[in-house]
Amino acid sequence: MKGRTLDVHAGRELLARQGVHVPPIDLSTTYPLYNAALGTQSIDAWARGEGEAASPVYARLYNPTVAGFERALADLEGAEAAVAYASGMAAVTAVLLANPGHVVGVRPVYGGTDHLLASRLLGHTVTWVQPEDVAAAIRDDTVLVWIETPANPTLQLVDIAAVVAQAGSVPVVVDNTFATPVLQQPLALGARYVLHSATKFLGGHGDVVGGVVACAEEDARALRQVRVATGGILHPLAGYLLHRGLQTLTLRVRAAQDGAMALVERLRAHPMVFAVHYPGCEHTDPTGLVGRQMHGPGSVLAFDVGSREIARTIMGSLRLITPAVSLGSVDTLIQHPASLTHRVVEDDAKSASGVSAGLLRLSVGIEEPDSLWRDLSQAFEQWVPALAAR
Ligand SMILES: Cc1ncc(COP(=O)(O)O)c(C=O)c1O
Repeated sequence: MKGRTLDVHAGRELLARQGVHVPPIDLSTTYPLYNAALGTQSIDAWARGEGEAASPVYARLYNPTVAGFERALADLEGAEAAVAYASGMAAVTAVLLANPGHVVGVRPVYGGTDHLLASRLLGHTVTWVQPEDVAAAIRDDTVLVWIETPANPTLQLVDIAAVVAQAGSVPVVVDNTFATPVLQQPLALGARYVLHSATKFLGGHGDVVGGVVACAEEDARALRQVRVATGGILHPLAGYLLHRGLQTLTLRVRAAQDGAMALVERLRAHPMVFAVHYPGCEHTDPTGLVGRQMHGPGSVLAFDVGSREIARTIMGSLRLITPAVSLGSVDTLIQHPASLTHRVVEDDAKSASGVSAGLLRLSVGIEEPDSLWRDLSQAFEQWVPALAAR
């Protein structure tokens, strides 16, 4: 299976045999154990990080609804396994806890990830480098190379295969949240872990928080052990919604991408816009990774209107587009990274990461591009009276 067929059917192989058509939501927190020996065997299996056992025993250890989503996402990413968490940051935390030591990171990354690494909260040290300097930054105690492509919020692309080649035996983590497996499959390019804030495109409707890591079964075991020990498992209702979201992933990603491409053209031509950052644009993708590494440019873009004040006026004047953090929903969202998603990033790192004061990030939904452009145009026009009134 591939494409939309895989989206619709992944992780559902057993349903017909169970006599149901959609995955049941199992909300049990505990499971009857009339055979205590079987319970002991199962507990030991979960503690070893195995993916299956005779009984779930307890809901922090395993949940079948969540496991259905994990199977589906693993299939979409071409992975042996996937492990789902209560949020994208819980997934980031699990990968770090499973790999203690020194991390080589390529900025920009999502503000929360940047903060978690830079703050040393989990005991890691980090060296931030440009993508071409990864090899030089690797030390004896380096445990991971961390990249995000397209990166949040500047949409800068990183050549995954080139970073993997430089990393040698050090595992590379790719945050694939912006691309989704529809547009990019990092494991096929040599990455060891693929991570998602499932809150974004995988869920797709702004109503579920989750995170997931796709990888080899051997690495999944270590990640499950962390999950069992720290308790960051995804809620079953969230697992259900995410599994349902995957069924329309390709449809949504492609429709939103069409809308983004239409808006990019118009934004580039607008006199108030200094720069547009989008994987389809030359300066964001100088080496032509769209078409080679990515099957398309996606639906998140950023544009610079020159100042914080103008950016905030535009954000506050929109009527159809929602001014809000997050992305990847069926509806269009806009936000000001310097004030919101990247506020926790150290100030010098903000400018090094391209998070300028006038930058707005737009996550284009599946609405008609014309209606989105009408809304953006009227918001741009609000700045003119605001200027006159000063
Ligand atoms: C690229 C990226 N990775 C990770 C995260 C963290 O995910 P969550 O908010 O689900 O914890 C986000 C959140 O915005 C993100 O954009």
